[in-house]
Amino acid sequence: MQVDPIRNQDVASLTDVSQLDIPSLPIIAVKVLDILSRESSNADDLAGIIAFDPSFVSRLLKTANSPYFGIGDGVSSIDGAILRLGFDTISDIVVMAALKDIRRHADAIDIGLWEHSTAVAVACKLIADELGYGNPTEHLIHGLLHDIGKMIMNINFKEKYTLVVDEVRSSGKPFEDVESAVFGFTHCGIGDYTARRWKLPVEIRSAISLHHCSASELADRKDIKDVLLVKIADHVCSELQIGIYDNLVPIDKDLEFIGLTEVSKIDSLKKKAEEEYPKYKSFMLG
Ligand SMILES: [Fe+2]
Ligand SMILES: [Fe+2]
Repeated sequence: MQVDPIRNQDVASLTDVSQLDIPSLPIIAVKVLDILSRESSNADDLAGIIAFDPSFVSRLLKTANSPYFGIGDGVSSIDGAILRLGFDTISDIVVMAALKDIRRHADAIDIGLWEHSTAVAVACKLIADELGYGNPTEHLIHGLLHDIGKMIMNINFKEKYTLVVDEVRSSGKPFEDVESAVFGFTHCGIGDYTARRWKLPVEIRSAISLHHCSASELADRKDIKDVLLVKIADHVCSELQIGIYDNLVPIDKDLEFIGLTEVSKIDSLKKKAEEEYPKYKSFMLG
């Protein structure tokens, strides 16, 4: 069955959404996303929010001192961590720590999905960096949340979703096609519903609901570049076969649109993503 990625979004008309178990977005994540969405956010704003949650502070400092991020002497305060690691790295760590609490069931599928999403987050950030486009931490968020619909489907329809994952692997079909055949809706639709429930900013919602669309389907959208960036990162990480990944579909037109056509550049991004992934994984899934 061919799935229409844009029209297949309104899950409320396809399933009883009132019965869905959707984790709440942690308060700290709401505040951090709000700060990062402001043009003028700075390290003090971030430190101000974190300071109210002592357990969060200790997690943050633990990470800042971990072998992957820590350099030299131990960091013992938020200000020290920001000074040592810089605002961008601290923003990444804070976002990951805040979103990590969405995780509920640490079953094999959940772990595999978060591994994939963490890798896509790293790749999004690296591609954004390479293109000099936007705020890398925002792209990291897009990557982390792009497949949130799959996590929600796995929480709510455990057995059926296990069948979907098995079928995707054995058939070579994309997730959307198999989900659509089994459920009548896709992870993008459930993700879109979740993004609305969480009142996420429109760019994050687009990354979640439209990341399987083509450049031509997205042509009149302002956030087309953000969405295609997630799609390309998703593809790169599927090639790297990290976690529970999707089957590959051609993305030549998307690469062309975003201005990333040199094979050597894509190869070096892939290599960097593979190198950077373990440090993010140890934090997200540790
Ligand atoms: Fe997806
Ligand atoms: Fe994905």
